[in-house]
Amino acid sequence: MRVIAIDGPAGSGKSTVARTLAARLALDYLDSGAMYRSVTFATLRRGIDPADADKVAAVARDIEMEIAGEVTVDGVDATREIRGPEVSKAVSTVAANPDVRVEMVRRQREWVAEHGGGVIEGRDIGTVVFPQAELKVYLTASEGERARRRQQQVDDLTYDDAAANIALRDRVDSTRATSPLAVADDAVVIDTTGRTVDDVVDEIVGRLA
Ligand code: DC
Repeated sequence: MRVIAIDGPAGSGKSTVARTLAARLALDYLDSGAMYRSVTFATLRRGIDPADADKVAAVARDIEMEIAGEVTVDGVDATREIRGPEVSKAVSTVAANPDVRVEMVRRQREWVAEHGGGVIEGRDIGTVVFPQAELKVYLTASEGERARRRQQQVDDLTYDDAAANIALRDRVDSTRATSPLAVADDAVVIDTTGRTVDDVVDEIVGRLA
């Protein structure tokens, strides 16, 4: 079973690279960040405080989510809203919840078993979720480029707000106690600044046996 792990901070190019790589290798693609965003979406929708660890963990265990291009949470289309400002602001708190992480990791492993492998992107895929992955890639990019990419993804977002949002999320994701964003010892580190998606994907494919 082929499992390729793609980790890295926000705006490093993970989603585009992982999706393109999956298509090239005829593997399915899983955006694990969309899972944490879906839990956050359901939490806010139920009027629960994202910092209420027990209640949020119960939401994580309870909800039905479908992550496949479109994102559906308990039968509701959440594709747009999971990328919106409210979810983006609260998601790091939800992702720092250890019980939420246990449940997401379980679901990610189940997804891979059901799909016969895949390309999975996130923050802890190579370090925690699939330490036996065939290849672990850690993508980076300069702060300026990451902020510019983020700004392009969201309507009416200024460059300064994009940069501040990314810096804050990086800090929370990298300093949390459970499964912080980190480079796996055996990961291939690729800086995507100024490089095209195809160029980066070519390099990754070239590293596969
Ligand atoms: O990749 P993204 O920006 O959609 O991720 C949303 C949040 O979820 C981000 O703050 C980090 C967190 N996350 C995580 O902790 N572990 C993962 N495997 C994926 C995302």
